Amino acid sequence: MTQYAVELRDVVKRFPNPGGGEVNAVNHATLQINHGEFFSLLGPSGCGKTTSLRMVAGFEWPTEGEILIDEKPMGRTPPFQRPVNTVFQSYALFQHMTISQNVAFGLEMENASKAEIQRRVEAALEMVQLAGMGARKPRQLSGGQQQRIALARALVKRPAVLLLDEPLGALDLKLRKEMQLELKALQEHVGITFIYVTHDQEEALTMSDRIAVMDKGNVLQIGTPVEIYERPNCRFVADFIGETNFLLGRVKDFDANNVIVVLEGSDREVVGIPLGELRPGQDVVASVRPEKIRIFDNATLKFGVPANQPNIFPIRILNTTYIGSDTRVLVDLGLGVQLKVWEQNHLSTLDALAYYTPGQELWMTIRPENILILPRDN
Ligand SMILES: Nc1ncnc2c1ncn2[C@@H]1O[C@H](COP(=O)(O)OP(=O)(O)OP(=O)(O)O)[C@@H](O)[C@H]1O
Ligand SMILES: [Mg+2]
Repeated sequence: MTQYAVELRDVVKRFPNPGGGEVNAVNHATLQINHGEFFSLLGPSGCGKTTSLRMVAGFEWPTEGEILIDEKPMGRTPPFQRPVNTVFQSYALFQHMTISQNVAFGLEMENASKAEIQRRVEAALEMVQLAGMGARKPRQLSGGQQQRIALARALVKRPAVLLLDEPLGALDLKLRKEMQLELKALQEHVGITFIYVTHDQEEALTMSDRIAVMDKGNVLQIGTPVEIYERPNCRFVADFIGETNFLLGRVKDFDANNVIVVLEGSDREVVGIPLGELRPGQDVVASVRPEKIRIFDNATLKFGVPANQPNIFPIRILNTTYIGSDTRVLVDLGLGVQLKVWEQNHLSTLDALAYYTPGQELWMTIRPENILILPRDN
């Protein structure tokens, strides 16, 4: 087996801009995608996800750089000669054909025998859990079922790589969540490499083995969902994936693996872990996820928190929003700094005293590894 299923080597794609000049849709992207991997391209609208996917499919050619599939440089190989298949957001099913005919469509172009086609169509429908629906027309199926047909139609050709461009975008939230899990299970079952485009960070975290986060044509970070969420390499990634608090500050000193940062407009210090090269005096931003902050009252603070633990601050509760599984609290750290804190409701109680009230004066602690210190300018 070759080392990589798909590789982008320093790929640039520029389009002529109708209004003059050029659009840099993809900017020196380098990616290696492993065989059997569920790999996602994640980023906001216009960041170059679809363009990247279309270059792998062969619908577009790179302006610079190279795309390799199974280690073969693709050059200007047309789409139908590449071992890939694409599933789009709009299912693009033929309305006048039955489900079976839709799925068989690609195979008939391949000159497969009738018996062979029938066997493979049935197997593909089985794979997407729609066995027995072959005689229906697309409009007699729900949105989720139609998307599964589009998947079956792509899978029936046994591509080495399946490209999916926001395939669940048209479905409602509940169905989308169901389909995410189904699609992931299907991918594991068939073992095909998936390249999956989405702008939905939760979807990418749920499904992917690895994620490439893109912005303005640039690949900013490539990593597993845990790496991307827990150790974002820049402010954009920290902000785009999940929710986070940003505190502005300046590097004061270094201490073992930690960095000490003085918050802007105060002499208050936080201890966190440095991400990237930092030097004393540098302007930085501290990124803290809301679920990683703990609120304590005086009693707990006295007995429950080690005396030498850094990052203990007095706070005031500004407001609280109870959302069932957790409570979202906005706290005031003084200095005009407000923080979002999410607390899981692990006690089932109607006792009002178990919940915070606005104006309450309490304490908060954050473990140093939960404060990521990033250079401010990236
Ligand atoms: N054929 C084209 N001609 C000119 N500009 C284009 C063309 N195709 C894409 N672009 C531009 O390239 C950039 C990247 O577009 P792309 O479709 O790859 O974004 P995307 O990440 O898929 O966004 P979305 O989430 O909205 O689908 C955008 O600025 C877009 O306007
Ligand atoms: Mg797109």
